[in-house]
Order: sequence, then structure tokens, then C-alpha cells
Amino acid sequence: MRERILSEIEVIKKLTASNLNDVEEIRIKYLGKKGLLNDMFAEFKNVPKEDKKEIGLLLNDLKTLAEGTIETLKESLESSDEQKGDKDDLTKPSNLFSLGSRHPLSMVRNEIIDIFSRVGYVVAEGPEIEDDWHVFSALNFPPEHPARDMQDTFFVENREDNNHAILRTHTSSVQVRTMASQKPPIRIIAPGRVFRNEAISARAHCIFHQIEGLYIDKGVSFADLKQSLLYFAKEMFGENTQIRLRPSYFPFTEPSAEVDVSCNLCGGEGCNICKGTGWLEIMGCGMVDPNVLEASGIDSKVYSGFAFGMGIERITMLKYNVKDLRLYFENDMRFLKQFTSVL
Ligand code: PHE
Repeated sequence: MRERILSEIEVIKKLTASNLNDVEEIRIKYLGKKGLLNDMFAEFKNVPKEDKKEIGLLLNDLKTLAEGTIETLKESLESSDEQKGDKDDLTKPSNLFSLGSRHPLSMVRNEIIDIFSRVGYVVAEGPEIEDDWHVFSALNFPPEHPARDMQDTFFVENREDNNHAILRTHTSSVQVRTMASQKPPIRIIAPGRVFRNEAISARAHCIFHQIEGLYIDKGVSFADLKQSLLYFAKEMFGENTQIRLRPSYFPFTEPSAEVDVSCNLCGGEGCNICKGTGWLEIMGCGMVDPNVLEASGIDSKVYSGFAFGMGIERITMLKYNVKDLRLYFENDMRFLKQFTSVL
């Protein structure tokens, strides 16, 4: 058997192939199911004990050589093919490179900004690390309000004057900053990241995004608020969308309301997305509380205004039927690839 192996090794070393079919034939001859190597390994049983070690090593050498040679023959044929092709056809398209796309949350944020900028709102921004005054006190939160609790708010630094540094829990802080630095009329839309001390689940996250709206001028009424929100709902969810306002409570608005839109999946008939009600909650809103205007130095006898705030994750879930909030943050390409817009 030793001689047979050695002579096969010499044969393999001299192998050549002029096309891929030759290579395939060689592969079948040596490595195929009924190939030479399988035969030899079967015969190996009959090799006398004292020769087993030497013959075993030789057999393995033969196998490695056969595998290596076949691979090299294949590669050299393929690369010479490629070179030939390149020389022959200069009109061949170049390799495609894949374009990235916007994150779904950015797409929806941009769409919301676009809708409001068409009716005169401008984008305003504020810091993510805020202080107690801008997130709570100036917005009429009483000192004992539960949102100030460590269970709900991330504290960055405790300060002696109680104006602690915190991560903002809502974008309403941008209202306070804008009112302190601009004179009415004010018409802003404030997108941004917010933070709450929540356990992460399909429906809640400790980091998410909101868009805040604020409009202050002489004679702004609740009817103006309702009409502005109806305009937004129709632009965002389609011409036939209806809205309804349910009484609610926020420290910084009075009166306050939750805004529902008619379910765009079932057209208001009731389905499992709207849990059979025909309505989907999309935001909170209300008339700016006079205390809030006064805290920022705006005369509440002359001016009035409305504010609204919505979660971008929530709107995106409704628009694209995303069932789990965590998908937005996991950067799984299979999820992100479904959103192809680059705008
Ligand atoms: N800031 C509120 C929240 O985070 C939303 C809101 C904004 C409500 C403006 C009314 C007016 O829930």
C-alpha cells in the first residue's frame, strides 16, 4: 500500500486542468464517495499493526495534498477567467455598492417636522442633560409630584439649591427655554431624545424620542389647537383620518387632553391594533397653563397658547405596524433594511 500511496502523490503533484470540468473529474476520482481515497481508507483496516502509523500518516498526506491541489487548480482557473472577462468587456457594470438608508425613527421625525413647518413652525432644540427648573418647576409640577422621583427620573447630579441636574424626561423643557429667550408670537416644534427610568419591554424603553409643539400668540384658542391637530393627523395618516380629544391632566396645560386618531388599519371598525375601539392614542396636548407663561415672563393676560407632545416611537409603530419597541435600538439589519428611504 505504501508504494501505491507514494505513486499517487507523484501523480497528484503533476496534475493540470484546462477547465472547471477537469477539476471536477479530478475531485470525483480522488475525493468522491467511491473515490480513491475512500477505497484506501477502507483498505487501511487490513494494514498490519506495525505499519499502521506510517501508512496512516502517508494516507493523510495524500488526502491533504489532493484537497489542496483541487482548490488551487480551481482558484487559478477562476482568476484567469475573471481577468479575461475584464479585458474583453469594458462595458460590464462595476460592482454594486449598497446605499445606507435612514432609520425609521428619523424618517418619521423628518416627516412630522415637514408637516408642521408647512404651517409656519420652526425647529427648536434644547439640552438632554437638563435641570429641575426646565423639566419640572417652570412647568408647574408641584414639589411632591411623583415624576420628580428617582423611580421615574435619572439624576445626574444633586445640587444644593434643589435645581438638580437630570436627564430630561420630556421635550417640554424646550418650551421653557424657548419662552425664556423669545418673545411671542412663538411657533416651535422640538424633536429630541428623552429618558425615563423604565424597565425595557416591547412597549417601554428608558430612552425614546418625542416631538413637542408650542404656539403662543394673542388670542390662541382651543379651537386653533384642535384644528392644528386635525391638519397634522390627516397629513400623517391620510385624508380620511378623524381625531377625538379625551379630557386628561398635565401640570403645564389647562385644559388638557389626550388625542386619538381613527385607526387607519380598520378605518374605525375595530381591529386588534386598536383593540377593537377604532381609535389609537397618539399624543397629549392642552392650552398652556397661565402659571407656565408667567414663570417664563410672558404676560398671560395678553397671550395664550397651546402645546402638544407625542412619542416618535409610538407614531412609527402605528405607521409601520412595528410590534416591539426594542427593534428600533438593536440595529438588526433585517429590520432596518425594510425602510429604504434615504431622505
Ligand atoms: N410632555 C408630555 C408627556 O411627556 C406630553 C405633552 C406635551 C402634553 C405638551 C401636553 C402638552 O407626556
